[in-house]
Amino acid sequence: MSYVVGIDLGTSAVKVMLMNKQGQVIKESSKSYPLIQEKSGYSEQDPEEWVEKTKLALQEIVQENRDIAEKIEGVSFSGQMHGLVLLNQDYQVQRPAILWNDTRTTKQCKEIYETIGEEKLLQYTKNPALEGFTLPKILWVKENEPEILSKTAVFVLPKDYLRFRMTGELHMDYSDAAGTLLLNISEKTWSAEMCEKLGLDVTICPPLVESHANIGTISANFAEESGLSTETKVFAGGADNACGAIGSGILSVGKTLCSIGTSGVVLSYEPSSDLDFEGKVHYFNHGEEDAYYTMGVTLAAGYSLSWFKDVFAADEDFENLVKDVGSVPIGSNGLLFTPYLVGERTPHADSVIRASFIGMDASHERKDFVRAIFEGITFSLCESIEIFREGGKRIDTIVSIGGGAKNETWLQMQADIFNAEVQKMASEQGPGVGAAMLAAYGCGWYESLEQCANVWLDVVKTYQPNPEAVERYAELFSIYKEVYQDTKELNERVQAFRK
Ligand code: XUL
Repeated sequence: MSYVVGIDLGTSAVKVMLMNKQGQVIKESSKSYPLIQEKSGYSEQDPEEWVEKTKLALQEIVQENRDIAEKIEGVSFSGQMHGLVLLNQDYQVQRPAILWNDTRTTKQCKEIYETIGEEKLLQYTKNPALEGFTLPKILWVKENEPEILSKTAVFVLPKDYLRFRMTGELHMDYSDAAGTLLLNISEKTWSAEMCEKLGLDVTICPPLVESHANIGTISANFAEESGLSTETKVFAGGADNACGAIGSGILSVGKTLCSIGTSGVVLSYEPSSDLDFEGKVHYFNHGEEDAYYTMGVTLAAGYSLSWFKDVFAADEDFENLVKDVGSVPIGSNGLLFTPYLVGERTPHADSVIRASFIGMDASHERKDFVRAIFEGITFSLCESIEIFREGGKRIDTIVSIGGGAKNETWLQMQADIFNAEVQKMASEQGPGVGAAMLAAYGCGWYESLEQCANVWLDVVKTYQPNPEAVERYAELFSIYKEVYQDTKELNERVQAFRK
C-alpha cells in the first residue's frame, strides 16, 4: 500500500490528510493556532506555530504505525494565500507573518495605483491592488519597519515557509505567487518593472515552480522530529483556493466552486488569462499547469460564525450553536446580516466597512442570529456570482465545500440564493484533498489531475433550487445589497472609535 499526504495550512488550523491510491482518507489530524490581532485591521501569525503544529499533526498520523511513514510516497501543500513571511539571508523569520485578512495597507494600495497606474497594473497582474495581497504588505514594512526590509533576503508565503522548514528548499508556486500582485500571471514571471518602480529589489522574490513540481525530499532533521521518512518526495503545492478547486474537480470550463472556510470564495475555471473582468474579481493561476481561475472573495465567511460563537457561545460546541437554524424561516424573522467584520473584498473592496445586523427585534432568539449569519454570508457570495453572470458566464451548477457544505440547511440555502444546483462532495475538505492530489499526480500515480479527480472525487448529493424560496431570497437580496451603501458613511465616521 502506498500513500500521499495533503497538508492544508489554513488560517485557523493545519489539517493533515493521509490518503491512499483510491483517494480514500485513511487518517487525518488537525491542530489549531491563534490569530494575533493587535489592532483593528491587523492580523498576524507566528510562522513557528505553523511548523510546530504541522509536526504534531504528522506525528499523530505516523505514530501508531511506523510502517506508514515508509509508505508515504509524496507530500504536498495547500496554503492560506497572500501572507507575508520575511526571511533574512540566514533564512530566519524577521517578524510575525502579516496575513491575507490584515487590512492595514490602504495607503500602500493607493501608492501602487499612483506609481504603476491602474491600467498597467491590470495588464501585468490582472488584479487590483487590495489590502490583503502581499505586495502592499511589503510596501507597508518598507515604510514602517525599514530596518526589517533592508535585512530581508527573500519573502515567501505561509505554506512556502512550512515547506522550506520540511525540506531546506525555498520556492513559490505560480498559484500562490499570483496572489502577491508581483507576478505577471500570463507570462508566469516576476514583474521586474513593478519592483523597480516601487523601489523593491526583485531578488527578494523566490524561485517559481509548478504546483506539482517535485522540489526535494523531507530533510533528515524534519524526518526525525515528525516521524516522516527522508525518502518521501515533496511537491510544491498551491494556494488554498487553487487546491480547493483541484480537490473539487474544478478542472474544466464551466465548473464553479463555492468554498466557505474562514474566508468564502466563489471561483470559476478559466482555460486562459485573456478574459477581462476589469479587476472586479481576482484572476489567478490555477494549480493545474497553464490554467487559471477567476474568483470573488468574502473576507469573513466562516469567520463570521466563529466570531459569533467565540463572543456569544464560547463554551458550546459548534453543532449545538447551529442545530436549530433549519427551524427559522427564510429571512431570519426580519434579521439581516452583512458579514463585513474585517472589511470586504468582493464586490466592495473596502477595508473600512464593518458588519451590521439590521432589524434586531425584541422577539429574536439566538437561532435567528445564526440563520441571519448563514444568509448574510451566502448573499455576499451571491454578489460574486452576480458579477460572473453579468460577465456572460453561465452558472447553473456549483460545487460546495468547506464549512458551508457540512450543514444541510446551508446547502439548500446556497441552492436557493444562488439559484443553481448545488453539489456536495464525499469530502468537503477540498484544499487538503487537492494538495494530496498534487502529490498523487506528482508521484506519477495518474497521468493528469483530471484523471486523478475521476478516480478520487464523488458528488454524493445535489440540492435543487426551490422556486418559491428563490423568489423570497431574491427580494431579500435586493435589500441586502442596499445595506453596504447605507452603512458605508456611518462606518467611516465610527472608525475613529476603533482601537
Ligand atoms: C483569497 C484569500 C483567502 C485566503 C484564505 O484571495 O485571501 O481566500 O486564501 O486562506
